[in-house]
Amino acid sequence: MAPTTTDKASSTMVAVSKKVLITGVSRGLGRALALELATYGHTVIGCSRDQTKLDSLQLQLSKVSPNANHLLLSIDVKCNRSVEEFARTVMENELIPDIIVNNAGVANKRSNMWEIDVQDFDNVIDTNIKGTTNILRHFIPLMIPYNQGIIVNISSDAGRDNIPYKSLAPYCASKWGIEGLSKCIAQELPKGMAIVALDPGIIHTDMLKSWMAGDYLPSQYQTPEHWATKAAPIILNLTTNNNGASLTIN
Ligand SMILES: NC(=O)c1ccc[n+]([C@@H]2O[C@H](COP(=O)([O-])OP(=O)(O)OC[C@H]3O[C@@H](n4cnc5c(N)ncnc54)[C@H](OP(=O)(O)O)[C@@H]3O)[C@@H](O)[C@H]2O)c1
Repeated sequence: MAPTTTDKASSTMVAVSKKVLITGVSRGLGRALALELATYGHTVIGCSRDQTKLDSLQLQLSKVSPNANHLLLSIDVKCNRSVEEFARTVMENELIPDIIVNNAGVANKRSNMWEIDVQDFDNVIDTNIKGTTNILRHFIPLMIPYNQGIIVNISSDAGRDNIPYKSLAPYCASKWGIEGLSKCIAQELPKGMAIVALDPGIIHTDMLKSWMAGDYLPSQYQTPEHWATKAAPIILNLTTNNNGASLTIN
């Protein structure tokens, strides 16, 4: 039988309740991870751009963990100024994160690179790379004085040696960028902090549907909720020993 909320909250994983910032919580992996972490008694700080979906998540979170002070805000990670304001609000609410999961991401419409619309290409780079760096620019300085904090940048197998995706050049470039970015920042963080790139595996989400278009077979892929049961303990158990690693969830 699947563990209930009470079972999870009383497990050893919540010995210390953590504050976890997740970008892209309106749907897919981010939303499932937010709910999974909340069932373990952790506090979620989340953002994405769809206020209606954020409101419905806030309601779900308050049912799962009525006593936690979850904070969800409508923020476009592409906008440096909005992310700066987000960090200020988080600080004012005394919710400086123990863990950041840079999950918000988009993929381009599939096509040969030279046929991809310029705005589509820019949107992928602006969201996946510059959006991630906007979060890091404003949140790492809040964490440094405490000399602790774990950063997880969601990558993909499209950012590793074996690129299986034709027609996804902007997306692949962005995820290779995430791998390089993570390894560089790993050298710059103080000793008490760590950053990793995490390939989440293949999960049945809106993004996957957009990739698979014609030959899509939903039943062969795991749900975001199933994925989150595997991802949450991996993320919660990361330590400074993992700094600079490229990890994969199978
Ligand atoms: N699904 C897979 O099999 C798979 C495999 C490898 C890697 N990944 C990676 O996993 C991450 C999550 O993907 P997913 O499959 O869950 O995709 P998804 O279902 O399309 O969800 C993407 C999330 O990112 C948010 N987002 C997009 N642009 C944003 C922006 N500018 N500002 C704030 N939030 C933004 C979306 O929210 P709004 O649109 O409401 O703002 C949504 O919550 C991505 O980084 C993706 O590259 C997924």
